[in-house]
Amino acid sequence: MVYIAPSLLAADFSALGQEVARIERADLLHIDIMDGHFVPNISFGPAVVAALRDKTKLLFDVHLMLEKPLAYIPAFRKAGADIITFHVECGEDPQELIQAIRASGAQAGCAISPETPVSAIGEWGKRLRQVTVMSVKPGFGGQTMKVEALRKIFQLKARFPGLLVEVDGGVNLETAPLCKAAGADILVAGTSVFQAEDPYLEMRCLAI
Ligand code: DX5
Ligand code: ZN
Repeated sequence: MVYIAPSLLAADFSALGQEVARIERADLLHIDIMDGHFVPNISFGPAVVAALRDKTKLLFDVHLMLEKPLAYIPAFRKAGADIITFHVECGEDPQELIQAIRASGAQAGCAISPETPVSAIGEWGKRLRQVTVMSVKPGFGGQTMKVEALRKIFQLKARFPGLLVEVDGGVNLETAPLCKAAGADILVAGTSVFQAEDPYLEMRCLAI
């Protein structure tokens, strides 16, 4: 059993409401928030998330690629985020971030960039819902998966059996089976789902 989380970053930005309707039968909607500092790119802010909230019943899986995300947690929760994920490399205290996310009413996730070892997640990791293994350099869609991510999935499942492990970046019909075999619970898929002629067919194939 694996959950599929289409990434809005690969959608047609001129028609986001319609794009979300195309993937309504997914499990989660993955929304990448980029600030132009933590990553070189800029994407969506809370107003865009809020505008989509009444367009879908999907859980909003909000991935904050922000330097110092603490101050933005209430705004993204108010906008409709169900899960809020910060990066362990963001420059703020993970325990404080988890506390703030949980206090907001959302569930907490932590992402690790490709160069960050699993050991960067301390015992505090047990308070998370999920850990996101970045399998590409954060900031851009459409990259090729770095298969070293597979080792991290195994390591995380061994260390935190109770947590969900999400893989983000370069998930397609070739790489999805590897991620699932390594123990991944959630597959984020941008390009492969939104660029597919039939997103449902693609999601079913990814989930096999
Ligand atoms: C990258 C983002 C990913 C991205 C994945 O920084 O976190 O969520 O949208 O896109 P694909 O599936 O195209 O690699
Ligand atoms: Zn992401």
